[in-house]
Amino acid sequence: MNSKNNPKNQIMALSAKLREYQDAYYRTARPEISDLEYDRLCNELQRLENEYPEFLQPDSPTFRVGSDLSSDLPEAAHSIPVLSLDKAYTIDAILEWIQKTTVKGRRDLSFTVEEKIDGVSIVLYYEQGILQKAVTRGNGYVGNDVTANIKTIHSVPLRLIEPVSLAVRGEVYLPVKSFLSLNKKMEVPYANPRNLAAGTIRRIKSRETADIPLEIFVYEGFFTDDEQPETHAELTMRLHKLGFRTNSRFGIFTRERDTDRSFFPEWTIGTFADIGSYIEDAVESRDTLDYEIDGLVVKVNELEVRKELGFTGHHPRWAVAYKFESPEGETIVEGIDIQVGRTGRITPVARVKPVRIGGSVISNVTLHNQDYIDMLELSLGDLVAVSKRGDVIPAVERVLEKNEQGNGVWKIPDSCPSCGSELQKIGAHTFCTNSECPDQVFGRVQFFTAKAQMDIENLGPETIQFLMNEGLLKDVPDIYQIDYRELVGKPGFGEKKCELLLKGVEESKHKPYSSVLASLGIPDLGKKAVELLLDDGILDIDSLLSIVDKAETDRLCGIKGFGEKTVASIIHELSKPVARERIRQLRDAGLQFKQEKTSAENLPEQIFSGQVWCVTGSFVNFTPRSKAMEAVKLRGGRVVTAVTGSTTHLLAGAGAGSKLKKAVSLNTAVVTEDEFIKMLNSDS
Ligand code: IVH
Repeated sequence: MNSKNNPKNQIMALSAKLREYQDAYYRTARPEISDLEYDRLCNELQRLENEYPEFLQPDSPTFRVGSDLSSDLPEAAHSIPVLSLDKAYTIDAILEWIQKTTVKGRRDLSFTVEEKIDGVSIVLYYEQGILQKAVTRGNGYVGNDVTANIKTIHSVPLRLIEPVSLAVRGEVYLPVKSFLSLNKKMEVPYANPRNLAAGTIRRIKSRETADIPLEIFVYEGFFTDDEQPETHAELTMRLHKLGFRTNSRFGIFTRERDTDRSFFPEWTIGTFADIGSYIEDAVESRDTLDYEIDGLVVKVNELEVRKELGFTGHHPRWAVAYKFESPEGETIVEGIDIQVGRTGRITPVARVKPVRIGGSVISNVTLHNQDYIDMLELSLGDLVAVSKRGDVIPAVERVLEKNEQGNGVWKIPDSCPSCGSELQKIGAHTFCTNSECPDQVFGRVQFFTAKAQMDIENLGPETIQFLMNEGLLKDVPDIYQIDYRELVGKPGFGEKKCELLLKGVEESKHKPYSSVLASLGIPDLGKKAVELLLDDGILDIDSLLSIVDKAETDRLCGIKGFGEKTVASIIHELSKPVARERIRQLRDAGLQFKQEKTSAENLPEQIFSGQVWCVTGSFVNFTPRSKAMEAVKLRGGRVVTAVTGSTTHLLAGAGAGSKLKKAVSLNTAVVTEDEFIKMLNSDS
């Protein structure tokens, strides 16, 4: 076989080419070929690697694009201690720490100051210069293997300049600009760049990690003893020269000015007297950075002395973090409770040791779902940072210290705490799918009777619970089957209360269809969606259910404000037999399932009959704009969302733009707000 055509050589040659193109793109920002051509070559290499896996190189450029294979992020033990840092909150405390440490070190020491990157702590393990493994911090001894995901980060070298073996610690982060633009597109936005980065690193498919422009700064290296440099400054320079991305915002401070050594020109070199102002400057420039920092880290520069100083249970004695003040509190997770919502959705809630943050005492904090807990790597007994910004609900920001009992990452149990049935993970959330689950029934009934929905007075949470305990209330329709008079005499049920209950339940039968439909608590079919359906002329349950049964997706997608996902969800939910049975029973009980038509004699004169109106811009007398549309419809006109050849009138408010232009070009009648009001008044 011609050596050029043997697969190994082809793989090597293609890899070399792609590596060069990647370098041109990411390091010098000068792409040498088009994205299309790059993708083509990359696919070709991937194909060859799949066919001849024996020639797949550990630093293949294809790792940068990730893969669709699933990884369950297996656990991996650390071979170095992955500890966290002791903290100080004032410059004085830092200077004191330097003083104390110098005494403990029993010689003249120097100290480095670097930024404390607010990202995700990762340990990279290299053997003979090749990246073998990337592991999250976990509990400091065991983390998760996220190698395939980390390999997609371009600033993580897959092969070092020299074939050395070492472990490095670094922080993976998402640049603030990327965070802001990505988060805008997220269905559930992340609270901060760190959380988005942490979620991204834990993706099951590395292809999804590759889509997010993560970065890394490395800040500690652990070579074999004979390779280990003497100082942290030298170590940092060595890491840089090996191909790692180190932070150039770095200061070295000695008792007396050190003029012998050459450091990176960007670094700040000073004496102890300069430390205070260096820290102040670093704090001040915080907002100008394209990454978030939550403090600074002061470290002993001499690595031999670090060994002598050693560790306490949690922290090295040779480093301290200068932490920025934040609206956060530190507390211990004492337990995790599970809430079962009315839709069956499981929400884990952390029970924390009460902590005061910004004027309120926090003792329960939502953890959203299993993914959020995994992202935090949270276990019972962990010390956590909890934030509470203004009106925002409190959130667990990160784990500060792992529990000492060795508790692993907390997992949602397999079965429902309320009914015992098996739980199911659907998308990001976990569900109890038993519609008779007591917690679900309680939630559903409570939602139905609440003031914002059917507003059934006296049927509050306690009464609901009592009726459920009595076996009288198993689902929403039972509300209309219970003989409330028979309850007189039961604990808490006087004659008056029973009478009011009965009255409230009877009155609810007159609530309009729109309220009934929204009260069913069907996901994606809240008040707003119901209003849109009615506006579109779907005025009764039969029309809606017939659309559902015929799966007329397009009919619903045509309604402005309804996306494909919403429509699919509504159709799915309304197809469920339990939902249909509930509707049937409520209908039999006499609830309204049809929008009352305005009676003919109350209708205004049909002055717009046969006309087709489009409404654009903003109005003084018609806000929201739908009020103007209503006025047209009430008078027999049809309302459309775009100006076309068949549009007869354009009602143009302030700021009308392209639709106005189009109407003029089509010779459509343009009506101003004042003219419109005159038209409306002319019919009365
Ligand atoms: S040194 C053994 N340097 O802060 C101490 N840590 O609370 C090694 N961090 O878990 C840590 N930037 O994830 C160090 N320049 C930096 C850092 C840094 C961020 C994180 C790291 C660590 C946490 C400590």
